[in-house]
Amino acid sequence: MKEIYTLADLKDWEKTTHDVDPPIRLGVIGDPVAHSLSPQMQNAALSACKIDMQYARFQISSAELCEVLSLVRKLDFIGVNLTVPHKIAALDHVDDVDPDARRIGAVNTISFAGKTARGFNTDGRGFSRAIRDEFSVDLRDLRVLVLGAGGAGRAIAMQCAKENCERLVIANRTFEKGEQLADKLRNFFTGPKVVGPVPRLQAIRWEESACRFQVANADLIVNATPVGLNRGDASPIPAQVLAPHLMVYDTVYSSERTAFVSAALEAGARAANGLSMLLHQGALALEIWFQREAPIDVMRKTLL
Ligand code: ATR
Repeated sequence: MKEIYTLADLKDWEKTTHDVDPPIRLGVIGDPVAHSLSPQMQNAALSACKIDMQYARFQISSAELCEVLSLVRKLDFIGVNLTVPHKIAALDHVDDVDPDARRIGAVNTISFAGKTARGFNTDGRGFSRAIRDEFSVDLRDLRVLVLGAGGAGRAIAMQCAKENCERLVIANRTFEKGEQLADKLRNFFTGPKVVGPVPRLQAIRWEESACRFQVANADLIVNATPVGLNRGDASPIPAQVLAPHLMVYDTVYSSERTAFVSAALEAGARAANGLSMLLHQGALALEIWFQREAPIDVMRKTLL
C-alpha cells in the first residue's frame, strides 16, 4: 500500500492497487493529509475486528473533492473521513446529512451503506468523550471557554450546548463569527442554571483582557483554532492569564508539546492535547461504518 493516493490513482484503481491485500475500502481525504494518524489507528482497528479491508490516505484538492467522492462510491468504499479543507464542502456532496452534522455545518465522516452517501460529524461527540477520558468530568458540569468558531469550534460549542454545560463562552478572532455561533446556540441556554453574575452564553473578543476576565469564570478552556500547528506558534492564551484551577484542552496535537499545553502546565493547570479527540471521533466513525463497537484500546495504543 502506498503512503498517499491521489485522484489519478483512483481513476486507475484496479491497476494501482492490484497487489494490495486486504483491499482499500476506507480512507481519509484531505489537503494536506500526510500527517494524518487516522490510517494507523483505523488499520489496527480493522485488523483487530478481523475486517478484511484497509484504510488509506488521499491527497485531494478542493477542486477534486466532488469527483473523488463519486469515484470512491463507485469503487465500493464503505466510507471516508474528511479533514481540512473539505469538511464544509462535503455537505453538498452527500445524499443525506445527519442532524448533528447539519447543525454543525460540517461533515467529517461519510458512510456509503445502502447506496446512499450519508454525512455525519463525530467531532463533537468525540470531544465529549475525550474530555471525560482526560479529566474524568462531564461537559454538563463545566464552564467552558472555546477559542475558535470554525469547523472544530462549531462542533465543540454545539456539543457543550447539547450537553447543557453550565456556561459557554466563545472567543473568536473574527468577533462576528463567534457572535453568530452564540446566536445559533441561544435556545440551549434558556434554562435556570445560573452561575453568578456572568451570562450563561456569551461571545467575546479575541483579546487578552477579555480572556483574563473569563478565565476566572471558566473550568475548561479549549483551543479549537489551528494556532499551535506550526512549530514556533505562540500559545493562544499566554501562561500568565491561565490559572491552576483550569483544565486546558488543545485540539491541536503534535509529537512535541504544544505551546498552549506548555503554558497550562506552567500555570499549574491540567492539560491534554487533541489525540484523545482524534481517537474518539475515529472510533465513532468506525461504529457508523460497521455498526459495531470500536476496539478503543487497540486504537489508543497506536497513538501513544
Ligand atoms: P477548522 O475546521 O480546523 O476549525 P476553520 O474552519 O478554518 O478550521 O477555522 C479556523 C478557526 O481558527 C477560526 O475560528 C479562525 O478564526 P477566524 O474566524 O477569525 O478566521 C481561527 N484562527 C485561525 N488562525 C488563527 C490565528 N492565527 N489566531 C486566532 N484564531 C485563528
